[in-house]
Amino acid sequence: MGRYSLLAFFKDQFTSLPDIESIAKDLTGKTVIITGANSGLGLEAARHFATMNPARLILGCRSLKSAEEAVGDIQQTTGCQNVEYWPLDLSSFRSVSDFSDCFEREGGGKLDILVQNAGIVRREYVQTNDGYESILQTNHLSSAFLTLLLLPSLSKVESRIVFVTSELHLVVEFLKEAESPNMIEKLNDKDHCNPEVMRYRYCVTKALNIFFVRALAARLPSYSNITVNAVTPGLCHSKITRDLKGIGAAIYEVFVYLFARSTEAGSRTIVHAALSGSQENMQAKYLNTCRVAEESDFILSVEGPKVQDRLWNETIDILAKQDKRVRNIMTQILREA
Ligand SMILES: NC(=O)c1ccc[n+]([C@@H]2O[C@H](COP(=O)([O-])OP(=O)(O)OC[C@H]3O[C@@H](n4cnc5c(N)ncnc54)[C@H](OP(=O)(O)O)[C@@H]3O)[C@@H](O)[C@H]2O)c1
Repeated sequence: MGRYSLLAFFKDQFTSLPDIESIAKDLTGKTVIITGANSGLGLEAARHFATMNPARLILGCRSLKSAEEAVGDIQQTTGCQNVEYWPLDLSSFRSVSDFSDCFEREGGGKLDILVQNAGIVRREYVQTNDGYESILQTNHLSSAFLTLLLLPSLSKVESRIVFVTSELHLVVEFLKEAESPNMIEKLNDKDHCNPEVMRYRYCVTKALNIFFVRALAARLPSYSNITVNAVTPGLCHSKITRDLKGIGAAIYEVFVYLFARSTEAGSRTIVHAALSGSQENMQAKYLNTCRVAEESDFILSVEGPKVQDRLWNETIDILAKQDKRVRNIMTQILREA
C-alpha cells in the first residue's frame, strides 16, 4: 500500500479547504477548457470558473444531452453566458484531434487554463475502437494527447495545465509492466489485463498522470509561460464509480457515505490548482487539500525518473502516429529533458 494509510486518508478528508472567495481570480479575457465537466467535480469546478467572468469557458464532454444540461445549469446558477459545450470523447484519438482542430480554428488563438478532469473507473478490460484498454486511453493517453495538441495555444500566454489525479496513485508501489520492453504495450495487452491487474488499473493511470505532469514540466524550456501540476480532490461525492459492481463497490459506497467531501468542496481543490500560487511554486507539483504534497515513494524513487522518461517516450511514439503535429510541437515548444 506504499504511503497510503487510512490515518492519512482520514486526516486529509477532515482537513478544511479554503473557501472559493479566497481562491477566486478575475478571469476577464481568459479562456478555460475543462474536460468531463457535465457532471461531478468537473461541473462544480466549471461553475466556480463561471463566476469569475471568463471570456470563454469550454466544457469538453462526450454526452450531448448531459453537456447541454450542464451549460444551462451553469448559465442559470451563475449568470455567465460565456459557457459552451464542445464534443470530446477521450476514448477516441480522432475526437481529441477534432477538438483541438476546432480550438485552432475557433479558440481565439490562446488558451489560459486547461483542466484535464475527465476520467473513468471500471474493473473490466474494455477495448476502445483505437485498440487500447479504455481506462489507459481515457485517463492517460488521450489526456496527454489533448495536452500536447493544445500546447501551441497554451504557450502564447501565461497558462496553467491541471491534471486531476487521485491519492490512490499512492497504492502503486511499482509497475510490473516496466519489466517489459514496452510498458504501455504491456499495460494494454489483453492477456496481461487479468482481474488482479484491472483492480489496480485506475490507480496506475492516476500515477501515470503524475509521471506525465513531471515529464512535461521537465521538457518545458526555462522561458516557458506554462505551469503544469496534478491535484487530487480527495474522496468526493460523484458518479465516478458508476461502472463498479460487487463487494468492492459496496465498501467504496460506505466510505463515500461516511467520509466523502461534497462535490463542490472537492472542486475547489481543482480550481485552486488552476489559479493559485506562481509558476515557481506550482510547477510539476502534486497537490492535496490545496497544499503541495509528496507524490508516492515509487514516483520519487530512483526508478521513478526512469519510468517517467520511458512513459513519455512511449506515449509520444503512440500519439505521434495519431497526429503528425505531435512531433512538430515537441520540437517547437518543448526541449530535450
Ligand atoms: N470522486 C472522487 O472521489 C475522486 C477522487 C480522486 C480523483 N477523482 C478524479 O476526479 C475526476 C472527475 O471525476 P468525478 O469524481 O467528478 O466523476 P464523474 O462524475 O464520473 O465525472 C467524470 C467525468 O469524466 C467524463 N468522462 C468519462 N469518460 C470520458 C470520455 N471517454 N470522454 C470524455 N469525458 C469522459 C464523464 O462523462 P460522462 O458523464 O459522459 O460519463 C464525466 O463528465 C476524475 O479524473 C477522477 O479520477 C475523483
